[in-house]
Amino acid sequence: MLAVKNLHKKFGSNEVLKGIDFQIDKGEVVAVIGPSGSGKTTLLRCISFLEKADAGEITFEDLHYDMRNITQRDIRRIRFGMGFVFQGFNLFRNMTAMGNVMEGLVTARKIPKAAAEETAWEMLRKVGMENRAHYYPDQLSGGQQQRVAIARAIAQDPQVILFDEPTSALDPELTGEVLDVMRKLAKEGTTMVVVTHEMRFAMEAASRVVFMEGGSIVEEAASAAFFSNPREERTRQFLRRTITDYDYSI
Ligand SMILES: Nc1ncnc2c1ncn2[C@@H]1O[C@H](COP(=O)(O)OP(=O)(O)O)[C@@H](O)[C@H]1O
Ligand SMILES: [Mg+2]
Repeated sequence: MLAVKNLHKKFGSNEVLKGIDFQIDKGEVVAVIGPSGSGKTTLLRCISFLEKADAGEITFEDLHYDMRNITQRDIRRIRFGMGFVFQGFNLFRNMTAMGNVMEGLVTARKIPKAAAEETAWEMLRKVGMENRAHYYPDQLSGGQQQRVAIARAIAQDPQVILFDEPTSALDPELTGEVLDVMRKLAKEGTTMVVVTHEMRFAMEAASRVVFMEGGSIVEEAASAAFFSNPREERTRQFLRRTITDYDYSI
């Protein structure tokens, strides 16, 4: 459904992506994990063309492109099929929760206002935010803002949603409500790429786990196999450092 092949990206002389092959099928939830600085955000940004890759190929919805000579039109088409939820919520401060969810529907998708409003209600209900629909971002907790950001993403009905550490800016007591919404989406068959430090989420909700380090994919496997039987020593080291007893407690 979405695949990149041999993706390369340098910042100056810093080679950040060293030929990444990554793919996700419809209905899959892929967790991307790895130490800070390993290139996870850059991977998502190159896939979503917020950053221009130096080389590589991308396949999306059966269409195939070379990253080096892709047109703006192709980029727009690809981005149209993607939803994004990033660490910093990125809601419009001058719009209510409702306004934020409606905005893209009305401006980008040209959906009539009444229909957009109906969709926005439905999406806010889905993330448990319908009773805050008329609140502004500043009146919402970080967890609530992130749930609105998720509602905004799913309202566009994208083929795939890319999450970049959606809970890492949140106080620990607020991460649960966001992860619960993501688990629900996963159960419904939403195709999701999730960069995360939440190992429990990766264990329980992801179908597959990709471990990155130093700009390369070190190991990837079905979630259960990845955690119960990691093949690479570097993966085992990372998991020893990262997984706490708490993660194993359920
Ligand atoms: N816009 C940028 N300009 C220069 N260097 C960058 C930029 N974005 C990321 N980097 C560098 O790329 C490397 C990978 O960063 P990043 O993709 O953010 O890793 P991760 O998300 O895994 O923590 C780091 O060394 C980082 O400093
Ligand atoms: Mg990052």
